[in-house]
Amino acid sequence: MCGIVGYSGARDAASVLLEGLRALEYRGYDSAGVSVFTGGSLQTVKSAGRLDALAGRLDAHPLAGHCGIGHTRWATHGAPSDANAHPHGTARLSLVHNGIIENYAQLKEELAGLGYSFETQTDTEVAAKTLDSCYHGDPIAAIREACAKMEGSYAFGIVFADRPGEVYGTRFNSPLLAAAGDGEGFLASDLSAVLPYTKQYFPLEHGEIVTIRPDGSLHVCTMDGTPVHRPLQTAQWDVEQAQKNGYDHFMRKEIFEQPEALYRTVQPRIANGLPDFSRDGIRPGLFQAVSRIQIVACGTASYAGWVGKHVIETLARVPVQVDIASEFRYANPILDPESLVIVISQSGETADTLAALRLAKSRGIQTLAIVNVPGSTIAREADLVLYTYAGPEIAVASTKAYSVQTGVLYLLAIQIALEKGRISAGQAQESVNGLLDAIDKTHEALKTDPLTKEVAAFLKDKEDLFFIGRGADFPLCREGSLKLKEISYLHSEAYEAGELKHGTISLITDGVPVIAVATQSALLAKTISNIKETRARGAKVLLFCQQDAPIGSDVCDRIIRLPKTDDLFAPIPAVIPLQLMAYHTAVARGCDVDKPRNLAKSVTVE
Ligand code: M6R
Repeated sequence: MCGIVGYSGARDAASVLLEGLRALEYRGYDSAGVSVFTGGSLQTVKSAGRLDALAGRLDAHPLAGHCGIGHTRWATHGAPSDANAHPHGTARLSLVHNGIIENYAQLKEELAGLGYSFETQTDTEVAAKTLDSCYHGDPIAAIREACAKMEGSYAFGIVFADRPGEVYGTRFNSPLLAAAGDGEGFLASDLSAVLPYTKQYFPLEHGEIVTIRPDGSLHVCTMDGTPVHRPLQTAQWDVEQAQKNGYDHFMRKEIFEQPEALYRTVQPRIANGLPDFSRDGIRPGLFQAVSRIQIVACGTASYAGWVGKHVIETLARVPVQVDIASEFRYANPILDPESLVIVISQSGETADTLAALRLAKSRGIQTLAIVNVPGSTIAREADLVLYTYAGPEIAVASTKAYSVQTGVLYLLAIQIALEKGRISAGQAQESVNGLLDAIDKTHEALKTDPLTKEVAAFLKDKEDLFFIGRGADFPLCREGSLKLKEISYLHSEAYEAGELKHGTISLITDGVPVIAVATQSALLAKTISNIKETRARGAKVLLFCQQDAPIGSDVCDRIIRLPKTDDLFAPIPAVIPLQLMAYHTAVARGCDVDKPRNLAKSVTVE
C-alpha cells in the first residue's frame, strides 16, 4: 500500500529516491519522506501530502549524498502528518516500512520501560525503536532480533548511521525487491520504481535480508546470516509502460490499452483454434477431475470472478462459487478434495487474497492464481499460475487488469468444458472465435468515448444513482458502480434488475439516474420491464445494449449501443463504456482520477 525505495551508488540519492517515489506514488499518497547520508550524517526530510510537498522541502533543504531510503505512505496507524510520515528512527538508524506491526502496543510498552519515548502514533516508529534497542553494531543480528519480536507483516528499508553507503532490506508478507544497475543497487517495493535505471532484479523471499553495499553490490542472507545466492531476473515490463505517454491520466491510458492487453494475454494461449495452457505448465486433462470451483478475490478482481462463474457454469456446467477473500479466509469454507480454488489478483500481493490462497493450500486443495505482477507472492505460492499480460497498471481504479482477468477466465472455461466433455472440439473452436471476436470489438467499444463524456456531464451533479442488470450483466453493473464510486465519489448501487422492487425501488424518485446494462438477448424483455418500472417513478434511464437490440423509443432516455457480439462474450467490450463513463464523471467533478481519496493500489493489509 505504501511504497519503499532505497539506493546506493554514484548518483544523487535524493533525486533517485524522489523519482522512484513518483513511480510508486500510486501505491500510497498521504505523506512521504527520505533519509540520506549527507555531510557525514544521516538526515531526514518528510512531509504530509503529495510528493510535490516533499520535493518542495528538498528544494529548500537539499540532501546531497549517494545513499538513502524513501517512502510514500498510506496511513494505517495515525493520521497523515509530517510526524507520522516515514522514515522513522533514532540518532542511530532510519527505517521505512510497509505493512502492519500487530503487536506494536505491547512492544511500545516494553520500549517505554527501556526509556524510549514516542512522538507519533505509528507502528513504524515502534518498529524503528525496537530495531534500535537490538542494535549493537551488527545490522544483521539486530534485524534478526527485532524481526523475531515483531508480529504482523512488513517490508523494511533501513539505513544505520554508522554504516554509510549501506542499505538493508527485509520482508515478511509484504513485497520487496532488490535491483542491480552498473555500480549501483536499489531496493523497492515495486518494479516501477527501478525501471528507469535497470531491469535486473530479484524479489526477496520471506525472512531474507539484503544488504546493498556502497559499490552497489547486493548480498542476501537468511535471518541467521547464511548467505543465499539469488540470481537476477530480467523484468519484462518497460519504463514507457509505466508512464502516461501523452494521456491526461493513467486510467484513461489503461482503458485504451485494453485491446492490446487482451490480445497479449489470450492469443499466446491458443493453438489450432483451441485453448492451450502448455506454456503455463498446465497439462491437458488437469481439469477433468475438477468437480467444483471456488473463486476468491477482492474488489474488481472479484467481479471478473463473477463473469468467470457465469461462463464456466454456462459452458462447463461445473458449479462455481465466488467469495470475497476477506470473508472466505474466516468462513471455515467447505472445500472438497476435487475442488479447484482460483484466486484472482492484479497485484498478486492483496493480503486477504493471499491468506485465502494459503488457507486452500493448507487444506490440500489445488490452487490456480490469475495474476498480473510477475514474481508477486500469490504467483509464487499458488500451485498453478496464469499470468495476465496487462503490463503495469498504475491507476488505482483497475481497468485493463479486469479485462485480461476475464479474458483468461473465458479461455479456462472453454478448456474445462472441453476436458469435461461438455462441448466438442468444434464447439470449443467456435467459442474461441467468439472470444477473439469480442476482443476485436473492444476497439469499437472505445469509440463510445464521446457519448460517455456527454452522459458524464449529466451525472456529475447527481447524488445517487443505480445500476441494474441481469445474468452476465449484473457483474458488469457491480463493476461499473464500483468504478464510479471509487473515482467520482458519487453514491451508486448495483442491483439485479428483478430485485429492485423488493425494497430499493423506494429510492427511485424524479430524476434519479438508473443505468441499465442489457447485453443478454434472452433477458432483454425482462430487463426492459424493470426499466419501465423505474421510469414510471421518474427515473432517468441510460441503457447499454447490443447494436441490434430491438428497443422501442419509449424504453429509455438515452441509449449507448455496444458492438454486436455473441451474448456469452458481451461482457468483454461492454465494460469499456462503463469505465469511460466513470472516468469522465470523475474528471467533470474535478476528482483526482488516478489517486482517489483514501484508496491505495495494492491492499497489503487486511
Ligand atoms: O491487486 P488486486 O487485484 O488483488 O486488488 C483487488 C482490489 O483491491 C482492486 O481490484 C480494487 O477493487 C480496485 N481499486 C478497483 O478498481
